[in-house]
Amino acid sequence: MSNREILNMVSVEELLNKNDEIIRNIREINDQIYREEGKQKKAIIVTYGCQMNEHDSEKLDAMIQDMGYVMVKKLDQADLVIFNTCCVRENAELKVYGNLGRIKHLKETKKDLVLAVCGCMMQQPHVVEAIKKQYKYVDLVFGTHNLHNFPSLLEETLSSHKQVVEVWESEGDVVEGLAINRKKDIKAYVNVMYGCDNFCAYCIVPYTRGRERSRQPEDILEEIQDLVNNGVKEITLLGQNVNSYGKTLESPMDFADLMRKVNDIKGIERIRFMTSHPKDISDKLLETMAECEHVCEYLHLPIQAGSNRILKAMNRKYTREQYLEIVDKARKLMPDVSISTDLIIGFPGETRADFEETLSLMKEVQFDSAFTYIYSKRTGTPAALIEPQIDEAEKHQRMTELLAMFNPMVNEKIQSHQDEILEVLVEGASKSSDQILMGRTRQHVTVNFEGDLSLTGKLVKVKATQPKKFSIFGELVEVVR
Ligand code: SAM
Ligand code: SF4
Ligand code: F3S
Repeated sequence: MSNREILNMVSVEELLNKNDEIIRNIREINDQIYREEGKQKKAIIVTYGCQMNEHDSEKLDAMIQDMGYVMVKKLDQADLVIFNTCCVRENAELKVYGNLGRIKHLKETKKDLVLAVCGCMMQQPHVVEAIKKQYKYVDLVFGTHNLHNFPSLLEETLSSHKQVVEVWESEGDVVEGLAINRKKDIKAYVNVMYGCDNFCAYCIVPYTRGRERSRQPEDILEEIQDLVNNGVKEITLLGQNVNSYGKTLESPMDFADLMRKVNDIKGIERIRFMTSHPKDISDKLLETMAECEHVCEYLHLPIQAGSNRILKAMNRKYTREQYLEIVDKARKLMPDVSISTDLIIGFPGETRADFEETLSLMKEVQFDSAFTYIYSKRTGTPAALIEPQIDEAEKHQRMTELLAMFNPMVNEKIQSHQDEILEVLVEGASKSSDQILMGRTRQHVTVNFEGDLSLTGKLVKVKATQPKKFSIFGELVEVVR
């Protein structure tokens, strides 16, 4: 009987129980190998893409460690390698294919190595076909909708010595109760919903992550309370469009109501959320943001394009004017709010005049930061069929022009903090040295300063003595708590 047939017969609870049993079995085998041969089984997860994938990898990490594997940092040390893939842009896919090519020699020299690929890329049938034909040495393929069934699929892979492929076309119910091994202990991501119903014309996500499903508020609040009890200070509420939270719930609850409840959780220091879709952001949400003391003054609000013609073609369902109105309201309610955005350059049909509208919008809004992307054609999305597609060289030229205008604007904002006293939540050592700490302001500006690692997790005041290009260097003034 295939995994899929078993799944059709059992409830999610039974399935998780079955997988728990498999986890215990694999752990016994791994422990026995350790006792008899002194060899500890090792594993690595390589994650591409957004926080959704990072969060999924945290769930896989928990399952793998429960199976008795030790996590390692290098591919060549591992007995189990998992690539958790992303397909939002072509670059992300090319990286995965490149790494699959590179790992082939490892598979040839280490016969017991198990290679699994999962994540968004696997939700596309043409990718799975390519893996079956050109990457026969991949042992296991699974998708985003059946991640919770990984132990059972791994067991099948280990016993069958054949390529196991199981990708579900559609999502099931929200699965609760999976353990999660989080990477950071000061900050944690918590999913409030899964999937996306928006079908922006360029975007593959609705096809790889399925329809929108909200988690029950009790499950979210319980998870956050637990994290806070374990020392987490900052929670980021995650969803592709958090503003439509609650639409699939029986109880009447929207994202603003949820935010207020999270704000009331004892011990929580900071709350962030992403991503907000401009078409669904309500006055109530902005007001709630302003009223809740733990909700940071930081709004990530992707605009994608400055031209109404392109916004319409993108199926974004708001206009430039409506977007500007939201920014205005947010700034009236929260004068120190920082606003970041996502932008796509070179959407099919984008003329020079459309592009200039994007430039003028950026000047008008004065964003604090922006994630800027060159449009990437995704098979299966409506925009892939729109003509004319913009020439690659032209897209790159527009991007260079946009950054030449935008980067000095960001720098000017950073410089304006000179000598200000900033409230910083310390995240730990900076990348450069253990003596230099790194933290962020409520507005998500990165701040570095000299200090002891024991300050990690503390809220401190730092004087901005040397604003840099995109971050601030400062001096510790006092520890708040
Ligand atoms: N749900 C979020 C939203 O609506 O803003 C973001 C999801 S997506 C993972 C992150 C960003 O990737 C999008 O905001 C968009 O700017 C960019 N993106 C998505 N599809 C793209 C494509 N085909 N080419 C270039 N950028 C793309
Ligand atoms: Fe993609 Fe649009 Fe959904 Fe965001 S809202 S995930 S950009 S389809
Ligand atoms: Fe995220 Fe990439 Fe999937 S951006 S939702 S991992 S396609």
